[in-house]
Amino acid sequence: MSETLEKQGTVEKTKEMAGQLAVVNEILERNGNDPSRLIPILQQAQEAFKYLSKEVISYVATSLGLPVTRVYGVATFYAYFSLEPKGKHIIRICDGTACHVKKSHGLLERINERLGLNSDKLTTDDMLFTLEQVCCLGACGLAPVMVVDEVVHGRATPDHVDEVINKILEDEKNAAAQ
Ligand code: FES
Repeated sequence: MSETLEKQGTVEKTKEMAGQLAVVNEILERNGNDPSRLIPILQQAQEAFKYLSKEVISYVATSLGLPVTRVYGVATFYAYFSLEPKGKHIIRICDGTACHVKKSHGLLERINERLGLNSDKLTTDDMLFTLEQVCCLGACGLAPVMVVDEVVHGRATPDHVDEVINKILEDEKNAAAQ
């Protein structure tokens, strides 16, 4: 990589980080900078960025006067929090018993095939999609269940997976063209 490109990358990263910290400041203010509200603060940061970067964790810790290890401890304890960046669109496939029996693996296979993902690679290189496998989503009557960006798709089929992915890709293409 040339020196100029490297510099550009660093500038972009710094800008992105400054933007993230401004959002974290708003979240902290909204929660009265109250250390007892650590979990809601982390939840709101996770909702904003879809993951908690080490910079965000350190910033929250310093701002609340808490040890960084304590904030890390909370972030790693709850499965809800992610320390890895996630794609813009989150696809969750239920692999609870009812969904498994109704062939949820067929949905997984189709998603992996379409998006070039596998058990070690859960996010696409363009950061557009992340695939998550989850336990029972509490909608067993609709098995197999897939949740895409919080929208529940019951009795899903591999063809349905294709439709959903195609629609997202088309919307993204239209948005980029505007
Ligand atoms: S097992 Fe999938 S929703 Fe319950």
